Amino acid sequence: MKIDAALIPKVTLNTGEQIPCIGMGTFGSDRFTPDQVSAAVAGAIRCGYRMFDCASCYQNEDQIGEVFAQAFKEGVVERKDLFIMTKVWNDQHREVAKALKKSIKDLQCDYADMYFIHWPFPNYHAPGCDVDSRNPDSKPFSVAEFMDTYRQCEALVREGLIRNIGISNMTIPKLEAVYDKFEIKPAACEMELHPCFQQQELFDWLVAHDIQPIGFMPLGSPQRPERDIVATDIADMKVPEIVEIAKKRGVHPAIICLKWAVRRGQIPIPFSVHEAEYTSNLAATVSDPLTDEEMQIISTLEKDNRLVKGQVFLWPGANDWHDLWDEDGKIVDCPDA
Ligand SMILES: NC(=O)c1ccc[n+]([C@@H]2O[C@H](COP(=O)([O-])OP(=O)(O)OC[C@H]3O[C@@H](n4cnc5c(N)ncnc54)[C@H](OP(=O)(O)O)[C@@H]3O)[C@@H](O)[C@H]2O)c1
Repeated sequence: MKIDAALIPKVTLNTGEQIPCIGMGTFGSDRFTPDQVSAAVAGAIRCGYRMFDCASCYQNEDQIGEVFAQAFKEGVVERKDLFIMTKVWNDQHREVAKALKKSIKDLQCDYADMYFIHWPFPNYHAPGCDVDSRNPDSKPFSVAEFMDTYRQCEALVREGLIRNIGISNMTIPKLEAVYDKFEIKPAACEMELHPCFQQQELFDWLVAHDIQPIGFMPLGSPQRPERDIVATDIADMKVPEIVEIAKKRGVHPAIICLKWAVRRGQIPIPFSVHEAEYTSNLAATVSDPLTDEEMQIISTLEKDNRLVKGQVFLWPGANDWHDLWDEDGKIVDCPDA
């Protein structure tokens, strides 16, 4: 099934650029191969997706780049029709230009529509590592180090290689420590958002500062890596209220999660390798928005259900993963806030 890309609602960023209200994720979650993910991207472009959320650490940018190049060659889309997002990984914060150029080369995209600082600290973990993996060189967030990385992104905007800067996995205390220092404001913040993890305060902070929230794991990521699964996690798509609304409308609960996301105002970036799923995910945005009553029901489903706890990013001396998220309103162990 093909959905006319012109029908997908658009969101205007603080840079004036318009982007689709939904994109496709490309993280294979250590379960799907680069070939499976890039085949899904090829299908998704033809089905009407125009925005893709990539990252160098997903280790599939060269295969996805082949798919983009083929779509341009076949005249399916032009480069200007796509909104391609990618991210600098934690071990490249001191060489952002090199990392960006590699992603641009791999993705065969000439420039990045959005370039994210994937995590706000340089704590590297190897792809596919398990939950107990720790890097002894990991450090807490530092304003100076973050701003050094951010300044490199600003320079790359001036060079024309980045159209919009994105930040990701931030907290309000971290944002407040750096907000006045931006010369070019971030256009978007990528954050975990699904019905049982709504991050309302951070969401409101971003909206108040005209930074667009982009919601990752919008369906509660049922295929997330083993390291991100604990017994107490809640499956958003199985929550009775979501199931009930889906039943009434005769759709899969995934569609309800996405309709909620779009109407709330975040941009969801669902992932799937299955054509029927990614097509219905895109179609969810063009018709039958949720009613006020349905939105009200879902607004009560917050359960503090954070799925990416981030244990592998902890630094020596940190207590546990809660330290990554500044839950007491202060940046934990920050040397210079
Ligand atoms: N910035 C960051 O740090 C960060 C972190 C995590 C993720 N992300 C981004 O966010 C994207 C999305 O996150 P995610 O892939 O973890 O989670 P997700 O989109 O919430 O869940 C994806 C899974 O949901 C299922 N699904 C998708 N559409 C469906 C449908 N219509 N009906 C039924 N099931 C459906 C699929 O599972 P089955 O295969 O079982 O059907 C799929 O593997 C990633 O790909 C990545 O681009 C960013």
